[in-house]
Amino acid sequence: MSNMLEKARKYETEKIAATDPQTKPLFHVSAPTGWINDPNGFSFYDGQIHLFYQYHPYNREWGPMHWGHSVTCDMIHWEQLPAALAPDEEYDKAGCFSGSAIEADGKHVLVYTGVTRIKQPDGSEQDRQNQCIAFGDGKDYQKYDKNPVMTGEMLPEGCNRVDFRDPKIWKENDTYYMIVGNKNENQIGQVVLCSSKNLTDWKFETILASNESGKIGTMWECPDFFQLGSKRVLICSPQDMKAQKYEFHNGHNSVYFLGDYDEKTHTFVKELPHALDYGMDFYAPQTTELPDGRRIMIAWMKSWDACVIPNSQDWQGMMTLPRELELKDGKIWQTPVREIEKYHKNPCRYDHAEINQETTLCGIEGRTIDLTVLLEEDEFQTFSMKLAANKEYETSFTYHKAENMLEIDRTYCGVTKDVVCVRKLKISNPEGLKKMRFILDRQSIELFLNDGEQVATTAICTPLEAQEIHFYSDKKIHINVEKYDIMS
Ligand code: FRU
Repeated sequence: MSNMLEKARKYETEKIAATDPQTKPLFHVSAPTGWINDPNGFSFYDGQIHLFYQYHPYNREWGPMHWGHSVTCDMIHWEQLPAALAPDEEYDKAGCFSGSAIEADGKHVLVYTGVTRIKQPDGSEQDRQNQCIAFGDGKDYQKYDKNPVMTGEMLPEGCNRVDFRDPKIWKENDTYYMIVGNKNENQIGQVVLCSSKNLTDWKFETILASNESGKIGTMWECPDFFQLGSKRVLICSPQDMKAQKYEFHNGHNSVYFLGDYDEKTHTFVKELPHALDYGMDFYAPQTTELPDGRRIMIAWMKSWDACVIPNSQDWQGMMTLPRELELKDGKIWQTPVREIEKYHKNPCRYDHAEINQETTLCGIEGRTIDLTVLLEEDEFQTFSMKLAANKEYETSFTYHKAENMLEIDRTYCGVTKDVVCVRKLKISNPEGLKKMRFILDRQSIELFLNDGEQVATTAICTPLEAQEIHFYSDKKIHINVEKYDIMS
C-alpha cells in the first residue's frame, strides 16, 4: 500500500472515532470525514453492495481525489471501509476521478479516471484525463501496472483530450464496454463508447450520443447506460445547462434519455431529455443492477454551487437514498428502496384528518422519518407543509392547485450562504398532486411525488431540535397521514 493511501486510512480512522454519529445522517451515506462527491463503483460483489465515492479526507472542501468506500447488505445500514484509492501514481497524481466497478474472474475491478498534468511547450501545465483500472478483493485494491488503459490520444480527431472522464463499465456477451464523458472541440458534450475483450486492452468504438441541439449543457459528466424495461436509458450530468420551462433548474443538471439501442451497430437513437430530480441537491447519479433484477440509482445529494452546511461542520457531502427505477408511461419512476420498510418503527396514522388553516397532528414529527401524505379532493387552493420546523426554522413545501405547482422553500432551514433556496416545479400529473412521501434524515429531505413520478431532493442544515411538522390549508382539506420513525 502506498504511503499516501496509508496516511488517508490512518487519518480517517482517527477522525471517524472522534466524530459523534448524531451529527451525521442516520441511514444515508455521508462523508466519513472531509469531503465527498459523486458515487463511484456502485456494484454488487461477493455478497454485498459496494459504494465508493469521490473523497478528500483532509478537509471539507474538494481536493486531490481519493476513493472512499462503504458496503451494505440492504442499502440502509452502511458499513464504513478503509479508503480504496489515493492519487499516488504519476498517471493519477492530480486525482482518481469518478468511475465504476464490475466483477471479473472473482475480482472486483474498479475503472476510474486518472488525472495527470503534462508540461506544455510554454512551460504551463495542462490536465490529461485517462482511464485506469484497479483489481481488488472488496477491501484492498491494486492498480494495474500498465495504467492507463484508455487514453485521450486513442480518441478520434475532434474529441477533447482534457475532458475525458467518468467511465461506466458493463459486460455484454463476451465483451466489456465502457462509456466515458467527453466533449468535442466545439464544446459539445458527448459520450464515447469503448470496448475490450480482457479489461486491459481497450479501443474506441463510437460516439454513442451527443448534444447535437446544443441545448444540453457543455461537458457531459458521469454517464450511465442500461436497459430498463423495453427501453435503453442514457443518464448523464451535463455541466452549465440552461433551464427549459420547468425542467433543468440546477445549472449542472442530471438528465436521462430513453431510446433504442442496436447492440450490433452501437447506435443509440435517443428521445428528448428529462430531469431526474426537481430538488436543489442532486448530481452525478450512478446505477447498478442487483442480483434480484432491480435497477438501483444513487446520487450525490449536493449541488456543486451550493454549500448547505452549518459553519461549524467539518465534513461535507451525502448520498441520496438508493432508489428503485421503473419505466412507466414513457418515463422513469423512482421509489425509495423497499428495504427501508424493515426499519419502520413507531407507526403513527391519521385517516381523513381535517386541515383548515395552520395545524399540527400529534405524533407527526421527527427528523429521521418516512412520512406519506395523501390529499383528498377538496375545496382548497393552497396546501402547505413545513418540515424540520420550530419557531426559528422551517423548510416548506407549498402546493398551488390552480397552477399545479409545488414550491419548495428552504430559506429558513439555517443556511448562512447565498445559495438557491426556492424551487418551483410543475406536477407532471395533470390531475394534480395526490401523494407526497417524504424521507427525512437529519440534514436532508427527499420528496417522492405521486408514487415517484417525480422526485425532489433537498439538503437542509437545520439544528436537530427543530422536529415539528406543520400543515396548512387555505380552505378545508382532508388528508391521510402515515409516519414511521426510521430506527437503526
Ligand atoms: C462530477 C465530477 C466528475 C469528476 C469528479 C471529480 O461531479 O466533476 O466529472 O470525475 O466530479 O471529483
